Amino acid sequence: MLRYLTSGESHGKALIAILEGIPAGLRLSNKDIDKDLARRQVGYGRGGRMHIEKDKVEILSGVRLGKTLGSPLTLMIKNLDWENWQEIMNVNEIKGKEIKALTHPRPGHADFAGLIKYNFKDIRDVLERASARETAVRVAIGAVCRKFLQEFGIYLYSRVIQIGKVKDESEWQPLNENYSLIENSSLRCLSKEAEKGMIALIDEAKKSGDSLGGIFEVMITGLPIGLGSYIQWDLKLDACLARAIMSIQAIVGIEIGLGFSAAKKFGSQVQDEIFYDKQKKKFYRLTNNAGGIEGGMTNGEPIILRAAMKPISTLAQPLHSVDFITKKEVKAIKERADVCAVPAAAVIGEGVSAFEIAKTMREKFSGDSLEEAKRNYESYLKRIINR
Ligand SMILES: Cc1cc2nc3c(=O)[nH]c(=O)nc-3n(C[C@H](O)[C@H](O)[C@H](O)COP(=O)(O)O)c2cc1C
Repeated sequence: MLRYLTSGESHGKALIAILEGIPAGLRLSNKDIDKDLARRQVGYGRGGRMHIEKDKVEILSGVRLGKTLGSPLTLMIKNLDWENWQEIMNVNEIKGKEIKALTHPRPGHADFAGLIKYNFKDIRDVLERASARETAVRVAIGAVCRKFLQEFGIYLYSRVIQIGKVKDESEWQPLNENYSLIENSSLRCLSKEAEKGMIALIDEAKKSGDSLGGIFEVMITGLPIGLGSYIQWDLKLDACLARAIMSIQAIVGIEIGLGFSAAKKFGSQVQDEIFYDKQKKKFYRLTNNAGGIEGGMTNGEPIILRAAMKPISTLAQPLHSVDFITKKEVKAIKERADVCAVPAAAVIGEGVSAFEIAKTMREKFSGDSLEEAKRNYESYLKRIINR
């Protein structure tokens, strides 16, 4: 079983994750993880924090001489900003030092419900853990899972297709040169024209002290038929992916394949007809409206999912709120914040999806070592092809 837990506060000393269930013998180095950490940090519209942090992972356990041991991996990312927060975030009470409590909850953030639920008097006790800073270490987990999946020819891609009302309606084929355009775009956007419009909109939001959300897309290729299952609700791969994507801070919706637009069409326009190529001895489809999943299982087509991110809730021109202690009308707190973080969310989307796919691969093909997992995988492929 593949599982993980994360810990750490946004301005605490470090973020930590323990990942258990990666087989022994997978080649893994810091570089494999740092690459994705860097991809999460960039994007037009991000705030000042990302200029301070230069995320690098430290692998504290589970790897020896460049290969996994099959034991739990402990991953740590130091928060460089912690230097500036040592008093406010000190583990020990500092006698005689008064730390000003934040008491003006931001609409849309975890502040309001968190204060009440945990009986706190200071919003910082909530926001430090609710913050999306935590996703840095989830991207690290995702990078390990990505490395594992690559051993089986499975690859993950992402791009931004909408910021606010500006859409990129171009088609993409991530395996060709298009993908380097996306990787080199400041908004992970394929169309240069759409990117220009998105940048202008972000500038406009920044100028007026506002924020923006958008939509990103994740594509996963090289999947065998039959990952996930219809046998039980919690084994359905679409459900697992939906939960993982919705667990990303500020994500308010997910669709797979045609998603919501399928509801407006006739069945004949939606279902992907099945064909058989006698020469290649292969089933095939001409369309992929299902987005690669039918009955909670991969059907051999790429998985395509899209997620909607709401606008960032910390605004430079803050919204109406109420002081939690005095009950007086106030403006919500202003923390240093991103204006738009959809490109980062796309990379996080890849990471959490990589974990879910790796988890279902581990469930299906097991193996204490990578070699054993591959042998099991090959024997399954042998059975399902040439039918
Ligand atoms: C990559 C990323 C960066 C974010 N940056 C900020 C930010 O700078 N300020 C902020 O208020 N919210 C930010 N958010 C969103 C909040 O973390 C999120 O709205 C909050 O934790 C409440 O959770 P919820 O929106 O899922 O209900 C960001 C989210 C992501 C995915």
